Amino acid sequence: MIVAEGVSCVFGTQEREALAMLRAGESRAAILARTATVVALNDVSLRVAEGELLVVMGLSGSGKSTLLRCLNRLVQPSRGSIRVAGRDVMAMGTRELREFRRSTFGMVFQHFALFPHRTVLENVEFGLEVQGVARVARRQAAEKALDLVGLAGWETKRLGQLSGGMKQRAGLARALAADASVLLMDEAFSALDPLIRRDMQVELVALQRRLRKTIVFVSHDLDEAIALGGRIALMMDGAIVQDDTAEGILAAPATPYVARFVEHIDATGVLRVGTLMDPGMNPGTPGVGLPVVGPDGVLLGRATATGGVSPCASLHADMTLRQAMPTLAAEPDGVPVVDGANRYLGVLWRTAALGALARRAPSEASAWTSLSPVSRSTSSATAHSTGSRHTEPALPAS
Ligand SMILES: Nc1ncnc2c1ncn2[C@@H]1O[C@H](COP(=O)(O)OP(=O)(O)OP(=O)(O)O)[C@@H](O)[C@H]1O
Ligand SMILES: [Mg+2]
Repeated sequence: MIVAEGVSCVFGTQEREALAMLRAGESRAAILARTATVVALNDVSLRVAEGELLVVMGLSGSGKSTLLRCLNRLVQPSRGSIRVAGRDVMAMGTRELREFRRSTFGMVFQHFALFPHRTVLENVEFGLEVQGVARVARRQAAEKALDLVGLAGWETKRLGQLSGGMKQRAGLARALAADASVLLMDEAFSALDPLIRRDMQVELVALQRRLRKTIVFVSHDLDEAIALGGRIALMMDGAIVQDDTAEGILAAPATPYVARFVEHIDATGVLRVGTLMDPGMNPGTPGVGLPVVGPDGVLLGRATATGGVSPCASLHADMTLRQAMPTLAAEPDGVPVVDGANRYLGVLWRTAALGALARRAPSEASAWTSLSPVSRSTSSATAHSTGSRHTEPALPAS
């Protein structure tokens, strides 16, 4: 839906010199010192699929708002290409651009940008009014949008009579009423107190699932980004330093800056077993304590010393680490991981789980050492093929 490539944006009088320095690899600080020109965006590329919610994160001044506004050219990029819904935004003339903005984008800001003296309904209708939509049609659209955000019944109140959270809902309703396919939300919930903010996050996710809007949501709050789910583009000094799911970022921060950024997050609620597991653990290799898999790939249990199979605990790949902790704590080294159909996927080692929590890669030496003499590097070509040898007595997986 949105494809931005190589977008740079500078503010200042010496744009050409700044861009030349930027191309030559000079730092933002050096460019600012020499040219008094701010590089707000430096060669940013971004893709947002239709119906996706992307959170743009970063410290104050990292370029989040500039990036958001470049997407519909409320801020003019200095370089780069931007395509939205298949249209070349950079090539549009003034009139075409204005029309495109109205038809495609809804914007929600931190400070609402609403009219306090108008009623709630009039505020929500405003975008449609500007578009010249007929009265009845715009009233219907506005009422539907107010209903969606839980403000039905408040239509005739003046906006000034609403609480902050309700104003925020009205702002969201206004963006929804215009039925734009792309919502650009800049710190939209920042003015709300924590409880209402969390409610709004939950509601936004639900609305997005229902309405399939494409949303770019700017926030400097990592908890909010995680709560909204989906991908996070982390910005620093006008560039995207990592673009991944919250889990991907926590599991493998791209730079020390990112690692510091995510330091305080409780990773146990974010990291998932499937990401942390060792998929290379060969289930077909004979060895006491190793997982035994049936011909259909289903986990049967662990190999016993007498060549049988004993039932064992397992973890689901989509469990969070927090949910997996009790099981992991009760096992000596590692626990087999299965999918929803109980098919064996790999092993979650305690070292990997603890290593991830300690924000470092799991040690290469980790192995099911106390239980198995078998090297983990055994060829996976034999995986599953010898499982049937271990199936008697056939035991159901736990
Ligand atoms: N209109 C402008 N004129 C000059 N400089 C600007 C302008 N808008 C933004 N900047 C500069 O561009 C850089 C990025 O600003 P931007 O507003 O995009 O940051 P942000 O990540 O949204 O920050 P915040 O979290 O504080 O909103 C900053 O250094 C800012 O000073
Ligand atoms: Mg901003």
